[in-house]
Amino acid sequence: MMRSTATGSRERAGGMVLGGPYHPGESQGSGVAATPVVAVKLSVNDVPVSLWLKLEGYAPHGSIKGRVAQGLWQDISGRIGPRTEIIESTSGNLGLALASLAVRHRVPFTAVVDPRSTAAVVAAIQSLGGRTITVDTPDGAGGYLLTRLGYIQERLRDHPGLLWPNQYANPANPRAHALGTAPELRAQLPPRPTSVLVAVSTGGTLAGFRDYVTAARPGWELIGVDVVGSAALGGRRGPRLLPGIGASRQSAFLPQGYRPALRVSPAEAVSACVWLRESTDIGVGASSGALVAVALRLFRAVPSRSSVTCLCPDGAEHYLGTVYSPRWRERLPVVDVARGVEVIAVESPRFDTLPGPVSLREGRVAP
Ligand SMILES: Cc1ncc(COP(=O)(O)O)c(C=O)c1O
Repeated sequence: MMRSTATGSRERAGGMVLGGPYHPGESQGSGVAATPVVAVKLSVNDVPVSLWLKLEGYAPHGSIKGRVAQGLWQDISGRIGPRTEIIESTSGNLGLALASLAVRHRVPFTAVVDPRSTAAVVAAIQSLGGRTITVDTPDGAGGYLLTRLGYIQERLRDHPGLLWPNQYANPANPRAHALGTAPELRAQLPPRPTSVLVAVSTGGTLAGFRDYVTAARPGWELIGVDVVGSAALGGRRGPRLLPGIGASRQSAFLPQGYRPALRVSPAEAVSACVWLRESTDIGVGASSGALVAVALRLFRAVPSRSSVTCLCPDGAEHYLGTVYSPRWRERLPVVDVARGVEVIAVESPRFDTLPGPVSLREGRVAP
């Protein structure tokens, strides 16, 4: 079963974006302003620590997926003709970014979403003129991803003019992070060791960061964060609730899985979102909540760990009817991920000179 929507008006969906102050900088080579990084100074069981948050909700299109959409578009642009239509499977954020590029280039676009995609992001795709197809048959692996992909395969068979960027296997996805997001983050952090937490769905962000860390050796401990029930890093599949994080199958970018990786429950992710907003006014999405929950867990487990950095994929604005709705939260067990944690201050970032370009193939930083 699926629901199809007509194209909507062009108004952007409104809503609040909560977060720290915006500090413009330059993203590596793209000419696009860098997303802000804030330092949340905490006391965890009376030990002072720094929680760094890179807020991708401030990126064009409201999420980290704008970077991926740009890369995918460049990859397919040579194949776009007058009769081309683009289709992509998405939990929402990539669909929104692709819808925006598609309307700019006057190419019809269809986003294949599922019932977990938030109503706000679906409405935003439609408002840009994108079509949405909602598949609602569970895939038997805890989500809808396999149903979404099955639908796309069927459409591709019937419509030769249809173009599928395929964010799940296109190297442009991890490359956007290896050459863009990761060096940009490095330029924004003090040059000290930190644990960098990355949420996993297609695995594109984590694979891109892994490639950057291997090549540039920034001194980061890179940790993948997934949800209970996700097979993205090779784990056991089961029911999942949150959009944007986790997958019904293993990441094609990380066929060997990834270590270290940690998992959180939906209740932990949501508890972290609510705690962060109430104690700092910074609003982040569900997958960012998963990262913050892991960060607090790590600070508590290893008191000598003084710095953890979370790459927060999106902001609160698409989660007002879910994570930030007390009524919606009633379905989750009550957990408190912030036991023994006190916020001391929220500080603005420094923007240092960007590091030089990275040669990934040679595995070294170019001079
Ligand atoms: C909300 C959200 N969480 C997490 C991620 C990380 O996903 P991926 O593994 O597909 O790079 C994304 C997408 O980048 C996202 O939009």
